[in-house]
Amino acid sequence: QFPVISIDGPTASGKGTVAHRVAKQLGFHYLDSGALYRLTALSAIRHGIDLWEEQQIADLARVLPCRFEKGHVFLAGDDVTDAVRQEAIGVAASKIAVLPLVRKALVELQVSFRQAPGLVADGRDMGTVIFPDAIQKVFLTASVEARANRRYKQLIEKGFPANMEDLVKDLAERDARDMARTEAPLKPAPGAFLLDTSHITANEAVHQILSLYAS
Ligand code: CDP
Repeated sequence: QFPVISIDGPTASGKGTVAHRVAKQLGFHYLDSGALYRLTALSAIRHGIDLWEEQQIADLARVLPCRFEKGHVFLAGDDVTDAVRQEAIGVAASKIAVLPLVRKALVELQVSFRQAPGLVADGRDMGTVIFPDAIQKVFLTASVEARANRRYKQLIEKGFPANMEDLVKDLAERDARDMARTEAPLKPAPGAFLLDTSHITANEAVHQILSLYAS
């Protein structure tokens, strides 16, 4: 089996940037599992399916027509790279992520990213559920303020509306939903390296993870 480095953590903890850079440095594949939940949510919305229709959404997720290419994400042939990053889609993703059948429907797709020479997997349950045999498990954390600041900058950069007060509220609600759900709740995997990124740069986090992996 090809090696997996799992990087889990709460929303806007810096996982995406860090995991992507670690993958690049090692020449590994990169799995943004959150994007799969976002794509599933977007697909449900486009099909006019309510976000609690578990079976219908799971049926969509199982055959999700998505493609990742050169930093772009496609859903049924449409470039949805920016559309999936909207906060409303993040919130919708976090709602469908509590549905056990939806999580189950996405397992196979996630596992298929494990290819030579290795994989960096970013998400909530990479080290606990999807790749329990990951060779290096990392759990990134950061204060709510640091995370809200990061998310604010990301959204503004993309030209999306953002409001600090709403973001802090969104983050707290999403944290609560991620941690309280019965299926794959957000928690550090046994043996995971805990890394608080509130006061370090993404590159410092990348460096720490790479040294850990090398040791
Ligand atoms: O970027 P952000 O951290 O806001 O979210 P994301 O990683 O793109 O994931 C969107 C939502 O999908 C999260 O709020 C989680 O509820 C859910 N998710 C999950 O349940 N399990 C994963 N492995 C990845 C994401």
